[in-house]
Amino acid sequence: MSSLEIRPATAADLRSITEIYEHAVRFGTATFELIPPDLAEMTRRFESLMDGRFPYVVAAVEGRVVGYAYAGAYRPRPAYRFTVENSVYLQPTIHRRGIGLQLLQRLIAECETHGYRQMIAVIGDSANAASIGVHSRCGFQMIGTHPNVGFKFGRWLDTVMMQRALGEGAATLPADE
Ligand SMILES: CC(C)(COP(=O)(O)OP(=O)(O)OC[C@H]1O[C@@H](n2cnc3c(N)ncnc32)[C@H](O)[C@@H]1OP(=O)(O)O)[C@@H](O)C(=O)NCCC(=O)NCCS
Repeated sequence: MSSLEIRPATAADLRSITEIYEHAVRFGTATFELIPPDLAEMTRRFESLMDGRFPYVVAAVEGRVVGYAYAGAYRPRPAYRFTVENSVYLQPTIHRRGIGLQLLQRLIAECETHGYRQMIAVIGDSANAASIGVHSRCGFQMIGTHPNVGFKFGRWLDTVMMQRALGEGAATLPADE
């Protein structure tokens, strides 16, 4: 896909991002949100990630945003500060063309540059073969499954935990120690 560009997200991308996520909330089980957040809420979330200096990237094809990925704090307590949780979403018409893989690879690279040491994916629905597949391709290992912790579209849903070391992982101490 010659016109594909992976680049940092800007506020101008948020309308497209909101639409992509809206579809995932309304029709998918990857996210356990039930009501799609509007543009104002997606802007608030984006600004909060920017304030925390977390990486947020988009995929654009011929200038049109078709997917995005970001990292955020895995948990708020400070000892978790070298661990991030990632999210990646694509417009549905463009699945399985390698874009999710490129978004996730770029996000991993940016998180390594920022000094993070572990990335965790909390994947909604153990039937989400695409997400499990793309995370496996990026070197994530299966940690385990929380069975039946969600309820959406009239059925119980698992979450699948996958994890990947970033940079030197636990082999060295972090820079601020
Ligand atoms: C998960 C998602 C981001 C994957 O992106 P994608 O662009 O469709 O995936 P890619 O084409 O980059 O696939 C890369 C690799 O992942 C694996 N993969 C992707 N889709 C797969 C599927 N449906 N079944 C099994 N493996 C799959 C394959 O190894 C694939 O490589 P290959 O095509 O050479 O075999 C995308 O499907 C998506 O947005 N899904 C809905 C939202 C979602 O589940 N997000 C993840 C939240 S944790």
